[in-house]
Amino acid sequence: MGIMKIFIDSADLNEIKEAVSIGVIDGCTTNPSLLAKVGRKIETAIPEICEIVDGPVSAEVVAVECNEIVDEGRKLAKLHKNVVVKVPLIVEGLKAVRIFTKEGIKTNVTLCFSANQALLAAKAGATYISPFIGRLDDTSHEGMPLIEDIVRIYDNYDLETQVLTASVRNPTHVVQAALAGSHCATLPFSIIKQLLKHPLTDSGLAQFLADHKKAAAAAK
Ligand code: E4P
Repeated sequence: MGIMKIFIDSADLNEIKEAVSIGVIDGCTTNPSLLAKVGRKIETAIPEICEIVDGPVSAEVVAVECNEIVDEGRKLAKLHKNVVVKVPLIVEGLKAVRIFTKEGIKTNVTLCFSANQALLAAKAGATYISPFIGRLDDTSHEGMPLIEDIVRIYDNYDLETQVLTASVRNPTHVVQAALAGSHCATLPFSIIKQLLKHPLTDSGLAQFLADHKKAAAAAK
């Protein structure tokens, strides 16, 4: 399956560009709240994101009835070949996912909070399942065991649906997701930057550079 893919969870073009320039971004996820935060409409923002990110870009429907989800999702899928239609984990959503799957439209089933929901999303043919870890933690339920359970269940039956760890709030979530074998994790830009940081790296580098400067000045 290769190494865990890292997606950026953002609709902010500047931070998406900056993250992509580091060279570690495999895709992007958006949602209505992230688009509202940057004051963008989905129809114009998604094609721009797709120009920056070379990989799957999730665009979320706001319809909640199957036929309407299908209409909206088909339109979103036409915006760019890399669009993944993000669908909420509700009965009407799963009906729509089944239709998208038949049509070859990729889906990201979102707002997953239980292993049984993930099982049903995979049966409907979801390309990705997004369990929201941080929001579970917020309610005093440990989120990470959910990732472990879903990875194990999908492995048991060789299901192709990829686990996309979402609602990530800290670097420890990322390590735990990777240890659990999550196929992907979507991270806010702030966490992507935190992954790189270590005070010992900074102080060690400062020491190396200072020693090099001293040695260069002393060398004949
Ligand atoms: C994932 O697809 C969602 O966009 C996101 O991870 C939700 O994160 P939040 O709980 O921090 O809003």
